[in-house]
Amino acid sequence: KTGSMGGCPMHEGGVRALLGRTNKDWWPEMLATEILNPNGPTNPLGDDFDYAEAFNALDYKALKADLTALMTDSQPWWPADYGHYGPFFIRMAWHAAGTYRTADGRGGANSGQQRFAPLDSWPDNGNLDKARRLLWPIKQKYGNNISWADLFILAGNVAIESMGGPVFGFGGGRADVFEPERDIYWGSEDKWVNEGVQTRIDPAHGFEQLEGPLAAIQMGLIYVNPEGPGGNPHDDEGMARDMKETFARMAMNDEETVALTAGGHTFGKAHGNGDASTLGAAPAGGDLAAQGFGWVSNQAHGGIGEHTVTSGIEGSWTNVPNKWTENYFRLLLDYDYELVKSPAGANQWQPINPKEEDMAPAAWDPSIKVPTMMTTADMQLKRDPAYRAISEKFRHDHEAFKDAFARAWFKLTHRDMGPKARYLGPEVPAEDLIWQDPIPAGTMPSDADVAAVKKKIADSGLTVSQLVKTAWASASTYRKSDHRGGANGARVALAPQKDWDVNEPAMLAKVIDTLNGLRGSMSLADAIVLGGVVGLEVAGARNVPFTGGRGDATAEQTDCDSFDVMEPQADAFRNYLPRKLAVKTEEMMLDKASLLGLSVPEMTVLIGGLRVLGANHGDRGHGHFTKRSGQLTNDFFVNLLDMTNVWNAVDGSGDEEYVATDRKSGSECWRATRADLVFGSNSELRAVSEIYAQNGAEKKFHDDFVAAWTKVMNADRFDLTYAKYHK
Ligand code: HEM
Repeated sequence: KTGSMGGCPMHEGGVRALLGRTNKDWWPEMLATEILNPNGPTNPLGDDFDYAEAFNALDYKALKADLTALMTDSQPWWPADYGHYGPFFIRMAWHAAGTYRTADGRGGANSGQQRFAPLDSWPDNGNLDKARRLLWPIKQKYGNNISWADLFILAGNVAIESMGGPVFGFGGGRADVFEPERDIYWGSEDKWVNEGVQTRIDPAHGFEQLEGPLAAIQMGLIYVNPEGPGGNPHDDEGMARDMKETFARMAMNDEETVALTAGGHTFGKAHGNGDASTLGAAPAGGDLAAQGFGWVSNQAHGGIGEHTVTSGIEGSWTNVPNKWTENYFRLLLDYDYELVKSPAGANQWQPINPKEEDMAPAAWDPSIKVPTMMTTADMQLKRDPAYRAISEKFRHDHEAFKDAFARAWFKLTHRDMGPKARYLGPEVPAEDLIWQDPIPAGTMPSDADVAAVKKKIADSGLTVSQLVKTAWASASTYRKSDHRGGANGARVALAPQKDWDVNEPAMLAKVIDTLNGLRGSMSLADAIVLGGVVGLEVAGARNVPFTGGRGDATAEQTDCDSFDVMEPQADAFRNYLPRKLAVKTEEMMLDKASLLGLSVPEMTVLIGGLRVLGANHGDRGHGHFTKRSGQLTNDFFVNLLDMTNVWNAVDGSGDEEYVATDRKSGSECWRATRADLVFGSNSELRAVSEIYAQNGAEKKFHDDFVAAWTKVMNADRFDLTYAKYHK
């Protein structure tokens, strides 16, 4: 099973966007450039810049040749260990991708966030500022044709290839952003991992202590503390537990975890040959003159090369650290290890009585032989029974190891790119992979087919509410964070989505059955969206656009575990809240809207419209502020802002339910949830609600609703928007 959060209470933490520690908390002195971007990040390349087109015009072969040459072009300001930067770039790429987490699809490599705080300054990303800077001459040369985000991953691939390792492929298309993402929650602790904070997992509480959606054990780590839980090298059980949980949260099973960690640590070394206390601040708090570099050493030797301190652990895993070899598992399994301290004082494991040929060259002088090492995390690949079985298998079947590493690396680095249609370039593998959520190509229905199916839906007896809810259930799983979900594929009709409580399984099954009976050759995915169009039209909407051509996925093409984590614990758009959560209902709403890629007005108009159409979960009447049920009107806003009512919380509802009474008569008028009333109480949402409640606002309300609805229905149509890049 990949991930353990489906239906689990800790999942709700996934919505705490903006509630954790922010860059301003960590670095109060940080320049507030965002005052120039009040409407969100601006792109210096202009809104019309089309990265996919630019990438397709790239001289890909020349870029790869330049990257290959860079691997062995050691620079005096940051000398390459063993004369090869490959391992350093692999770590950079892995850390770029490794922030991905399945619960909300955020993190990952797809926007080049490692360039910005907080990631550029996480303790675990120590000295990767140098790796990125080594790439600058290449970035400068190829300019807009290669994004930083793509360059990080491609550099990792070229590194593996140039050291003889196996690679499965590369897809380009990760467009850069130009400021830190504001919608991602990295946790709320106010200390970094190296400041002595306990692990997020308390053994007494098991994984419940690792708050969702977080996928790292401590603040500032990609996954786990390499020295052991909370730095304790003797807690094998805890170490293996931490590895399993954090890797699962980024969609990796045990076999993938072993392959990745062993394959990665076949290369390179850890750095701890010095005193960490001589290092300056991380990049975000660094000195102006350091020009974006952090962790600058005040020692005479500059803390580079031989004297580099990064993790504090010192040494290589294998005896040939700049080549792909079979040595990692051999050394791990054949030797006994003893606990030692690195020169920087970190806990690490050293082979007992290593043979001369199993010693490694010193990174700075191949004539010197030094012992290899393993971290406490590596030791679990031998000590944990499940990991060990995999390690033994890989040790005796090197081809299987190579294949598993190449595939897991490809998944790690492409997991957040969404459908394969979004992959660009000459090295995209032909094979479809289950984690890409494959969908067979659809066919575009003719106008006549669309008209005929529309008529049949209208005559089917399905209600506005049923049609709108079903279309919403299908399309609203889309999340822009990793481009998963959406109406294409009609996975709403498959397990697990068809059984999600939020989707009202019995109602959904009835609608799907009916649509299946009348859709003819049209795909179910199209028929569901077309059903939404019919629903809106019956409700009085005009000119609702419909773009067909979706395909239907099969159960075999659907990884249930990976969809489990996408089950909504709340959905403000359907006024769904099965139980009170630790996170406020209106925060859940904002998070969902953010993942759908909606603006504040789009979220507002959609919720107001959905309420009067009867899209609430079950028979909930909350927020249904209309006497004209099933008509697309702005009644929600008019009645919400009506001062003849007064609102009060319903006793015992935990401030989740409210009732409006007429100020004069005292009689009950409406019921509402927090996801309704926040549009009157929050000043910014109220300001937008007022626009839609004004006299004469009916047309604007209608047009904005239809536009926002259509945006959600088509959010995942990369099959259409990317078609032109694949000619
Ligand atoms: C380096 C820990 C998984 C690739 C390191 C270092 C540590 C570490 C402590 C030393 C950093 C330094 O001081 O320079 C871990 C832990 C892992 C893990 C605890 C998971 C349990 C991975 C994975 C990959 C990887 C999945 C890639 C597939 C590398 C490489 C280096 C490295 C190539 C060497 C970097 C260099 O030579 O500069 N890792 N790692 N690691 N890691 Fe990992």
